[in-house]
Amino acid sequence: MPQNPARTGWLKPAVFSAALLPLAWLIWRIAANDLGPDPAQELAISTGEWTLRFLLVTLSLTPLRHITGRIEFVRIRRMVGLFALFHAAIHFTVWMSLLLGFRWFAIGEELLERPYISIGFLALLILIALGITSPRAMVRRMGKNWKRLHRLIYLAAILAIVHLTWILRTDVGEAVLYGSILALLLAYRFYRRFAK
Ligand code: HEM
Repeated sequence: MPQNPARTGWLKPAVFSAALLPLAWLIWRIAANDLGPDPAQELAISTGEWTLRFLLVTLSLTPLRHITGRIEFVRIRRMVGLFALFHAAIHFTVWMSLLLGFRWFAIGEELLERPYISIGFLALLILIALGITSPRAMVRRMGKNWKRLHRLIYLAAILAIVHLTWILRTDVGEAVLYGSILALLLAYRFYRRFAK
């Protein structure tokens, strides 16, 4: 069914405002001194979790578009993906500044020697590459390679789940939940590919 673009004019500002809420809530908690006994760790955990949530929401938008037939889901995909990158950048900055105090040698050492950190960093690098190539002009300039490159978002999500599972050690409930959502999204993608 053809859809009137004018009717979706409110959608992007609404999604943009909603996507700022987690950060606004975090800033509120910082101002209220309500981050618990280890504020730095709480900030790292919270920003990491929101990175993963935005990543999974980004991945679910194309299936939602197929299932519902509504093009609006695809119109907000780039924005939601950039919010994942935005939160990943904050997560990384919290790690460098609050957890490691900008000690560059320690930062380099951890990046190279702690597998869960290296894995998270690789996921971040993928998100940066996708963010840089996300403008429409890049889509046109890269042609088929754009699609190939942007499939790496699945790899970023898999790396993020490994990163999370490695950190959780004992309480794996969260990793199972997010991992199951990703498995479902991957299964849907393979189903579409082979059904064609
Ligand atoms: C796409 C990229 C990333 C995602 C989706 C992500 C996701 C997460 C999530 C969900 C957590 C919370 C784990 C929990 O609930 O305990 C977390 C924690 C953490 N992440 Fe990441 N992460 C990413 C990249 C990175 C990078 C680049 C670094 C550092 C180089 C990093 C360092 C950490 C650390 C140190 C923690 C543990 C905080 C703590 O419990 O003390 N992450 N991450």
